[in-house]
Amino acid sequence: MEPSLIRNFCIIAHVDHGKTTLSDRLLHRTGTISDREMQEQLLDSMDLERERGITIKAHPVTMYYTARNGKRYELNLIDTPGHVDFSYEVSRSLRACEGALLVVDAAQGVEAQTVANVHLAMKQNLTIIPVINKIDLPHANIPLVRQQLEDILAIPADSAILASAKEGIGTDEILEAIVERIPPPQPTGAPSLQALAFDSYFDTYKGVVVYVRVFNGELRPGMQIRLLHSGQTYEVKEVGSFNPKPYVRDRLGVGETGYLAAGIKSPFEVKLGDTITDARIPSPALPGFQEVRPMVFSGIYPINTADYEHLKASMAKLQLNDPAFVYQPETSVALGFGFRCGFLGLLHMEIVQERLRREYNLDIIATYPSVVYRVHLTNGTVKEVDNPAHMPEPNYIAQIEEPIIRAYILCPNEYIGDLLLLITEKRGVVENTETLDPRRVMLTARLPLNEILIDFHDRIKSITHGYGSMDYEHAGYMPSDMVKLDMLVNGEPVDAFSCIVHRDKAESRGRLLAAKLKEVIPRHQFQVAIQAAIGGRIIARETVSALRKDVTAKCYGGDITRKRKLLERQKEGKKRMKAIGSVHIPQEAFIEVLKTG
Ligand code: GTP
Repeated sequence: MEPSLIRNFCIIAHVDHGKTTLSDRLLHRTGTISDREMQEQLLDSMDLERERGITIKAHPVTMYYTARNGKRYELNLIDTPGHVDFSYEVSRSLRACEGALLVVDAAQGVEAQTVANVHLAMKQNLTIIPVINKIDLPHANIPLVRQQLEDILAIPADSAILASAKEGIGTDEILEAIVERIPPPQPTGAPSLQALAFDSYFDTYKGVVVYVRVFNGELRPGMQIRLLHSGQTYEVKEVGSFNPKPYVRDRLGVGETGYLAAGIKSPFEVKLGDTITDARIPSPALPGFQEVRPMVFSGIYPINTADYEHLKASMAKLQLNDPAFVYQPETSVALGFGFRCGFLGLLHMEIVQERLRREYNLDIIATYPSVVYRVHLTNGTVKEVDNPAHMPEPNYIAQIEEPIIRAYILCPNEYIGDLLLLITEKRGVVENTETLDPRRVMLTARLPLNEILIDFHDRIKSITHGYGSMDYEHAGYMPSDMVKLDMLVNGEPVDAFSCIVHRDKAESRGRLLAAKLKEVIPRHQFQVAIQAAIGGRIIARETVSALRKDVTAKCYGGDITRKRKLLERQKEGKKRMKAIGSVHIPQEAFIEVLKTG
């Protein structure tokens, strides 16, 4: 289609503000889906997604709309993962668009995820169309939401469209605004094809199906294409779009969005965000390519060792549709054979673990998550460390840098004091405080990623009685005084409990872990020492006292010397066992301690 008649847009919103309902409404209004299909929520199909109310992956959908000016437009709705955990994935999808609908719930107002997403959209220079949704609700407060748009997001309040996706109010205005306000795609002026590969999925018959947005030239079956960053060349077998089911097209031209299949066998051959060009007359790469890099790592082990092969196969399957998830085999003295896994962020980690449990029916245990540290060595080199086991000895380390995030936290006024305490406890610094409305404030804070891995989000929810919301973006690295904390059981380090922590927190964490271990390690014939250590220095200790088998029981009668002799012998025996160091720690004990974080 003529580029002036094409519009590419996405919808950004906080969880539950109505993104899915509005998408369905637009598809229905443009005749893309029928009444019956409207009943089912089309764009979120994965169960887990629906339950958690987050969109992980969905197709770009092409619809046709005849506007009030009488012209027929091709509108491409490109789905974005809402959560900024997938920050680079979000920006990649945003790069495929010229505009974004910003959906804000009229009763809830602007939330943390709204702010984080708008920042990403503004960075990509997208035209933003604010939509105040759910105006049918009795407690909708439209003037307040308008005010928030202006104050917090610097978006002109009078540009907002009032809508109820549920009742179908405002749908036409939204479609008209898409046509009128979002600029049409412009060819880049390059000599040939330039298309952005912004997502992919795996199809058993077609191989990797790549979602593309054509910026320049055209994409046709039979063409030889090259992926510029990976350098690979393929012949295009099929191109098409989604309506929302895939359908074959004879070409995709400037500004069009759809998919291509080229017999690509492995998702790793396609670097998402890469530029696809004509192999014979190559054009330069589109700007903004970034390699996806996992930010959070954790070990995943089968609880039942017999499940190892099943776990391995399940991970391989999962990865086919989620190349951002990476893994490699690792072994742990405590947990046996398992995998070291890398994730984009916290939510991604939770989702992968949940899917392994639910879709693949696996009982798994995950170790304490770690971020990626930049370790500057005394010999001048820099090593990236994502596993405490690989942390160099302290005397080889010149400096350690840790990843930092910028968090947007929205919270009712009355809880601000407690929230500030939490931020301080997590080694954070508040950069900015802004009044959102008479009841709420927005805090912008810099925090180490490592500190928000475990319970930060839950703590915010509990401090604010569920009214707070949080989202974050990555904000580079910062030098920090990090140390490796080892847990020793009778002098032997237990790898599953090693972690990298800030020096100020090492002692309290060591004490906490030692106390927990004491609870779960059963008593032995000998005394068991549980120690927390930093580079050989013991900072905390607990002792599981020995079971005292009553060796004197059978010696009734009064011979005290014989009793003493038996007791002496028992002591000797205990010493020997301790020397062998055969402390038996049941696996349930590890699981218990790892569960509590
Ligand atoms: P996620 O996909 O979960 O991120 O949420 P979402 O933003 O897609 O929200 P979704 O469309 O699933 O809507 C969340 C809830 O709000 C659902 O229960 C919808 O029925 C309801 N909802 C959506 N739009 C409206 C509206 O205009 N009015 C009212 N009253 N409810 C709405």
